[in-house]
Amino acid sequence: MTKNLFDKVQLSSGQTFENRLVMAPMTTQCSFHDGSVTDELVQYYTRRAGGPAAVIVESTFIDNYGRAFEGALGADSDDKIPGLTKLAEGIKDKGSKAIIQLYHAGRMGTPELNKGRQPISASNVAALRDNAVVPRTLEVEEIEEMIQLFADAAARAIKAGFDGVELHGANTYLLQQFFSPHSNRRDDEWGGSRENRLRFPRQVTEKVRQTAEEMGKTDFIIGYRFSPEELEEPGITFEDTMYLLNHLADYSIDYFHFSINNWQRTSIIDTTDEQLLLEKYLDNANDKLKKIPIMGAGGIKSVEDAEEAIAAGFDLMSVGKAHLINPDFVDCLKNNELPKSLLTEGDDEKLIIPAPLWNILGFLKEKK
Ligand SMILES: Cc1cc2nc3c(=O)[nH]c(=O)nc-3n(C[C@H](O)[C@H](O)[C@H](O)COP(=O)(O)O)c2cc1C
Repeated sequence: MTKNLFDKVQLSSGQTFENRLVMAPMTTQCSFHDGSVTDELVQYYTRRAGGPAAVIVESTFIDNYGRAFEGALGADSDDKIPGLTKLAEGIKDKGSKAIIQLYHAGRMGTPELNKGRQPISASNVAALRDNAVVPRTLEVEEIEEMIQLFADAAARAIKAGFDGVELHGANTYLLQQFFSPHSNRRDDEWGGSRENRLRFPRQVTEKVRQTAEEMGKTDFIIGYRFSPEELEEPGITFEDTMYLLNHLADYSIDYFHFSINNWQRTSIIDTTDEQLLLEKYLDNANDKLKKIPIMGAGGIKSVEDAEEAIAAGFDLMSVGKAHLINPDFVDCLKNNELPKSLLTEGDDEKLIIPAPLWNILGFLKEKK
């Protein structure tokens, strides 16, 4: 059956996406210093809601010491719930599902961002980047507390009225750090074998689902974002990723979200391999996984791009930068209008872009 961009998509939790296009999570760095919601943030998201089936709110830290950015958004304490409620309501009132992405930076954090604290991770191995700090290895009790922190943040999202959360298992943050053989060198039940490295993402997912059920929110959406491969040695291979996803599929995940900068991405490890990662995924998905919608990402600028990605096999597509430069992107596609960039001088009011994102827009402007 041919898939249409404006088909409804049924999720396993019972909720429905009104179409196949979603606003991708994009960090805006415009929260208050404590991570609570600003009016600027509410305006930015509300302006872009309505067209996409769901708006995935940017990476949101679950622990006061788990930030990866200045101005990061947080769901780490109950006093953030009123602000998060405004955000969820703003998105839902326009007609999109409100989903919030939860993360802990782990070794990608720095003491400067986290009140002087040394970052933590699965093991004390620094990330391969300039000036990376060697993290402290989490004790077993701390791992159990960390799982609870993810669940507590999800509970706050529920109280604030969000329809779901996206667990940020990508972009080298803590969930990925536990699965990665580079950052996880443990020899206890939380590391070593692939089965043990799976334990943390698996238990976080399980606990979040259990928490939603205990709160009576049985239709709570849980998405999971993953980075398909790592360049580190040892690092996550695509085969490892299929192992991860085939197992996470047991925990009623509503969608899996590729974290890639272009939906047509091929392997970054074997650059001679021309097969799309998407095709590898479809070839290797078990029966449970095949029932879960997959969300692609990267490079959607027109209706043709989106249709091509859906025809290639994605069920949903997240759209990032096109939403920055055109807040009505999905409506334009729906109305058969060309999604023009509104990126011209003096567009601040039309675009409603938080100040830190102007740097990125400047970059996009140069590329036009
Ligand atoms: C400014 C900016 C911030 C981003 N922040 C996040 C983030 O918080 N979480 C995440 O998973 N991806 C993040 N991304 C990646 C996007 O979700 C998306 O996958 C990427 O931009 C490719 O899609 P696009 O070509 O449609 O922009 C960010 C991208 C941009 C441009």
